[in-house]
Amino acid sequence: MRIDIITAVPELLGGPLDHSIVGRARKAGKVVIHIHDLRKYSTDKHRKVDDYPFGGGAGLVMTPQPVFDCVSYLKEQRSYDAVIFPTPDAPVLNQKRVNSLSLHQKIMIICGHYKGIDQRIRDELVTLEISIGDFVLSGGELPAMILVDAIVRLLPGVLGDAESALDDSFQDGFLSAPVYTRPANFRGLKIPEVLRSGNHEQIRLWREKKALELTKTKRPDLYRNLIHKK
Ligand code: ADE
Repeated sequence: MRIDIITAVPELLGGPLDHSIVGRARKAGKVVIHIHDLRKYSTDKHRKVDDYPFGGGAGLVMTPQPVFDCVSYLKEQRSYDAVIFPTPDAPVLNQKRVNSLSLHQKIMIICGHYKGIDQRIRDELVTLEISIGDFVLSGGELPAMILVDAIVRLLPGVLGDAESALDDSFQDGFLSAPVYTRPANFRGLKIPEVLRSGNHEQIRLWREKKALELTKTKRPDLYRNLIHKK
């Protein structure tokens, strides 16, 4: 998979994309991530990428020229399956959407900053708008990293244990059961006995029960939807 990220603040995209699972996936060539500095595409003599909103109002708006030029430049070289714009005024990301995005070969993510981006960018270039939750961040860079992390861990051969992504919370719609590791007794805090029984069927049933209980108490909204679907 190839992911192109367009940003006015490339410094924000370090760290998380260079380490741990995403960093290892990049080193192993499972994913190629390119970060494009929007300012390099600005024809303004001060490399400006924002301006005041028409009609007044607080905050600056990202101008169309650098984004249109950067996107055209990238599209001249390859076609993209999706051009994504992270924004709080969009449907909220969920595991189903992440699963389908992980099947793409090439995606582009345009990070907004400031008050917003010129609507013509959204109308003409963006094919998918995604919110990561009902709260407002200062830019699309953190949401972009969240999206990339969620996608990359699903790519074939990225997670060591092939089972582990399937066991994730949300993969079957329910939250996952609690997990424990050694020691079985930590300062008097004991793990559930069934996990040491060696009885795989009993363990499966226990995990299923816990997943149901947890979903019902922590995410009653999810629980109701899942029960209605059955
Ligand atoms: N940009 C700012 N806030 C955001 C959010 N909640 N989701 C996606 N992109 C955003």
